[in-house]
Amino acid sequence: MGSRSAALERLSDVLVCPVCAGDIVSVSTSVVCAAGHVFDVARQGYVSLIAGRAVSGDSAEMVAARDRFLSSGHYDRISDAVASAVPTASGVCVDVGGGTGYHLARVLDARPDLAGLVLDTSKPALKRAARSHERMAAVATDAWAALPLRSSSIDVMLSIFAPRNPGETARVLAPGGVLVVVTPTTRHLSELMSAVGLVRVDERKEERLALQLRDFETIRSDRLEYGVSLGRAEAIDDVLMGPSGHHAGADEIAHALSSLPDPVAATVSVVVSVLRLRRDAG
Ligand SMILES: C[S@@+](CC[C@H](N)C(=O)[O-])C[C@H]1O[C@@H](n2cnc3c(N)ncnc32)[C@H](O)[C@@H]1O
Ligand SMILES: [Zn+2]
Repeated sequence: MGSRSAALERLSDVLVCPVCAGDIVSVSTSVVCAAGHVFDVARQGYVSLIAGRAVSGDSAEMVAARDRFLSSGHYDRISDAVASAVPTASGVCVDVGGGTGYHLARVLDARPDLAGLVLDTSKPALKRAARSHERMAAVATDAWAALPLRSSSIDVMLSIFAPRNPGETARVLAPGGVLVVVTPTTRHLSELMSAVGLVRVDERKEERLALQLRDFETIRSDRLEYGVSLGRAEAIDDVLMGPSGHHAGADEIAHALSSLPDPVAATVSVVVSVLRLRRDAG
């Protein structure tokens, strides 16, 4: 069929059925496996490959904030850093917790022979991801469950401010494949976080270490830090699209930020790491 599933169709070799792990034999208005399990492709172009109960992800309000904020370009240096960290020109790049697909679309622009796949649980995010790039497909998947991907099939996995599943990542990465991880440092948006009463703790440090020690080795790790000037609406969106958005709405966040100057100077501070499977892993 037409554009609704063209990007999905191109990925049918790497996708597997979430129920039986069997091959995908047909992709059109639905995705069908060899055993006959059927998953409808939504009108907006994404498909849900979740075997059990669907988990929600970012809300519509958070996703709209992310869409507005990312299109301002304030985080483009992050996607540029990710694109230049991707060592391969072709193959399949999967963005786990990829949200609206903004960063992956910029990676695909930089790498015209890569095919892209966003995995996320948020339907409002997937709707945007499905139409954000002609070489990108969007699939509803729970990052904590078995990923509906063939073993040893994926050239690049991205995890940008997102959950990740080291065991499944190790299973699906192809030999020589890499995982590119972006994590915030404790300085990330600290000016805004202290106004909303949050101190960012580096809760991922241990997880990162575990990831490195078990199946992966870090081949590169660079800190990216720069200042941005955010108007009030942008500052609200930046907080709303992050973890605070799960607990507070725009009005509450606006109130918390009201004592800050407008525009406010904020720090973007992340670590971009490239990890590779250890040869003896698995
Ligand atoms: C902080 S956002 C980052 C989005 C995107 N990587 C970006 O930087 O624009 C985290 C994303 O992870 C998704 N997410 C949360 N829990 C998830 C899960 N269990 N499986 C897959 N995605 C999940 C959310 O819906 C959200 O889109
Ligand atoms: Zn099946």
